[in-house]
Amino acid sequence: MTPAQAGRVIWTVVSIFIVESLVFGLSVLPAFYFWTWTLTWAIPDFPLLRPAIVATTLVPAYLVFSVALVALSALSTRVCGWRTAPNGMWKLRDLEWPLLDWSRYMISTHVVRVLVGTFFRASPLWTWYLRWNGARIGRGVHINSLSISDHNMLEFGDGVVIGENVHLSGHTVEGGLVKTGPVRLSRFVTVGLGSMVGINVEAGEKCQIGALSVVLKGSKLDGNAIYAGVPARKIDRSTPAAVVTE
Ligand SMILES: CC(C)(COP(=O)(O)OP(=O)(O)OC[C@H]1O[C@@H](n2cnc3c(N)ncnc32)[C@H](O)[C@@H]1OP(=O)(O)O)[C@@H](O)C(=O)NCCC(=O)NCCS
Repeated sequence: MTPAQAGRVIWTVVSIFIVESLVFGLSVLPAFYFWTWTLTWAIPDFPLLRPAIVATTLVPAYLVFSVALVALSALSTRVCGWRTAPNGMWKLRDLEWPLLDWSRYMISTHVVRVLVGTFFRASPLWTWYLRWNGARIGRGVHINSLSISDHNMLEFGDGVVIGENVHLSGHTVEGGLVKTGPVRLSRFVTVGLGSMVGINVEAGEKCQIGALSVVLKGSKLDGNAIYAGVPARKIDRSTPAAVVTE
């Protein structure tokens, strides 16, 4: 590693540590005040009543923390300019700035994923987070997956549904290179659970991607069509499926 590379890596680690410490600390603050305020409530002196009420306020305090973390983390990446640069092709071992900016964006996303995502995926809070963190997302979008990253590379139209455990991001690592590219899903596209969608993929309106499918990078999927399999292929629906009758 050259001295310039070592300097860049050290600054990357120090800056992400400082920013994440600030973001986490400030997110805890409202929850902390909320929780300590509940300790001041005048509660009748029944056995176990005060501990029970104080314990019950932990979940609302976590909710307050989650909203604050989502908002402050998204604000921090915006202010610091940590984004995935489009059409990137960076050698991992070169440790250049675009790669390091990308890694800070990934780490920041990962912190929110671990602390908030597990409970809030598929909820509006998760959609708001992706939107505030750079994604262009329409209305009525449901994202039931934690493996969605490079938010500024994503464009989802109204009514898009992303199933559980879908891997969809704006980067891929191949042969020591990090490559980046957008993913564009038009209105009412469904990505079936457990699927993988590569970079530079575009899907037309009402396209359905079957469960456990792999949509190869650069694929252009037609609207009103069904794709499934590994790799995903268009399914011919000219012959209606057999209807089972008693
Ligand atoms: C792809 C999908 C939409 C097709 O549903 P459909 O239109 O009712 O089609 P069918 O079930 O009749 O299947 C049509 C053909 O596609 C094949 N197929 C269906 N889903 C497939 C999948 N995930 N992978 C591979 N092949 C698949 C079927 O075997 C069938 O093949 P055949 O014609 O040779 O017999 C559906 O199977 C699916 O995977 N939905 C995902 C739902 C989901 O995960 N939503 C996310 C939120 S829960």
